[in-house]
Amino acid sequence: MRIREGMRMAAGIDDIAIYIPKLFVDASDFAVARGVDPAKMQSGLGVSQMAIVDTNQDPACLAANACLKVMQKNKLSPDDIGRLYVATESSLDESKAMNSYVIGMLEQVYGEGSFEHCGGIECKFACVSGSYALYDNANWIRAGEAENKSALVVVSDIAKYDLGSSGELTQGAGAVAMLLNDKPRLLAFDPKVTSTSIKNEYDFYRPFGKETPIVHGQYSNLLYLIQVRNALEAYKRKALSTGLIKLKEGETVLDHIDYLNMHLPYSNMGKKALAYLVRHEWRTTPRWKKLIEKIGIEEPRPKDPRGTIESILADADYMTKDHEFTKLFTKTKEFQDVYETKLASSLIASKMIGNLYTASLYLGFRSSLEFEFQKGVELEGKRIGFGSYGSGSSAMVFSGVIQPSYKQVVKDMNLEAELGKRKKLSLEEYEEIHENKRSVDDSILEPKKEFVLVSVATAPESSGERKYVFSE
Ligand code: COA
Repeated sequence: MRIREGMRMAAGIDDIAIYIPKLFVDASDFAVARGVDPAKMQSGLGVSQMAIVDTNQDPACLAANACLKVMQKNKLSPDDIGRLYVATESSLDESKAMNSYVIGMLEQVYGEGSFEHCGGIECKFACVSGSYALYDNANWIRAGEAENKSALVVVSDIAKYDLGSSGELTQGAGAVAMLLNDKPRLLAFDPKVTSTSIKNEYDFYRPFGKETPIVHGQYSNLLYLIQVRNALEAYKRKALSTGLIKLKEGETVLDHIDYLNMHLPYSNMGKKALAYLVRHEWRTTPRWKKLIEKIGIEEPRPKDPRGTIESILADADYMTKDHEFTKLFTKTKEFQDVYETKLASSLIASKMIGNLYTASLYLGFRSSLEFEFQKGVELEGKRIGFGSYGSGSSAMVFSGVIQPSYKQVVKDMNLEAELGKRKKLSLEEYEEIHENKRSVDDSILEPKKEFVLVSVATAPESSGERKYVFSE
């Protein structure tokens, strides 16, 4: 039975699988080695462990491993999959798309040519491209083009920053594969509300040939908040005009979104973003006046409220006061309630794994499902909002509703079991891997039942050709 919205086909996420590399660095050891207070990583950024790829892993094999998991779990054959998209900002080639490598690996298991019918592309827009890929594939399903097949959207990245940079404290790696179809067991996307905001910016970018990004950290933090707020404004207009959300006196759109999943370059960014959006939405409601009285200070305003991001960041007096106000605001019971009920569970996995760029938002969604289910919360019918951000820069806000059959999928989610036995790296091992001093065949761990990289050709006529095997 297909679920239809009026005459339109429903579309959404049926299942999710994650693949996280087994190596990690411990945040406390790491902070000490970098001369940083461990509390900055643990409580300032919300990072406890950061997953690190082994020498024989790259973003394509992380993606293929996540795809294989979701296919095996659901006993799918290649004929069940109509499209395979990979969204990444850790591209391996300027021309050859990452989904071609992934299909090559999957065909080692399912047979040469078995994915021949399964088109798709690699998508790029920093951390937001996975959301565009989901939207495009949902629309392929809604348009009735899927011929009973599902789409696979895989988000896969290695978040790697320069040694000694402030970004080095927010690294990680992993892939999330999402199975999309017209009868999703987990989440059906809300129609006609997906909203975007876009602006040419240089907050974070990685020029050709450079392995690590150029980052303007505080600029990127503020730009993320502004762009997601812009996209939320557009979402609000659509949600109200389509009748998806009806506001009563004094309500805000956030009151109608049961869970919010935010892009998580580090877990505390989720909390920052929630606080920013809640402040923005509550400011015009009667509850704000009461809250300001409780906080005891007025909400600060920048000297030039219409100024640029640079002028706001340079307004030291405003920045200090706003920081102080935010701290007081986030301690109020009113904010804490929103934080605990709508966001906290989505941050658990991020703390244990770190930054996954495109995959961070979806690891957060997966984390929220598992840990809310464990709390015994009934999730059927709950509206999930997504705040996706990619530097450069674009934001996307969209939502969906948890479906009646969600328990079939969520009951088996077990992050600890899926992470398995992990190996903590010494700082020396981490730096050797980071600086590419170990060769592909000098991996730290023995691969087991997974795709790994075995060689990258260097001869001029085949330079860059990658070979992978499925290791039994
Ligand atoms: N104990 C506890 N908390 C501490 C601390 C300590 N000793 N020292 C600092 N902190 C807190 C800070 O107060 C801050 O939290 P707050 O903003 O809630 O107040 C947090 O730790 C980070 O400190 P900050 O000084 O802002 O860190 P930073 O200048 O090193 O930069 C990033 C942080 C995220 C900007 C940097 O890691 C980065 O550039 N990351 C990559 C880009 C990125 O992730 N951008 C995000 C948007 S996409």
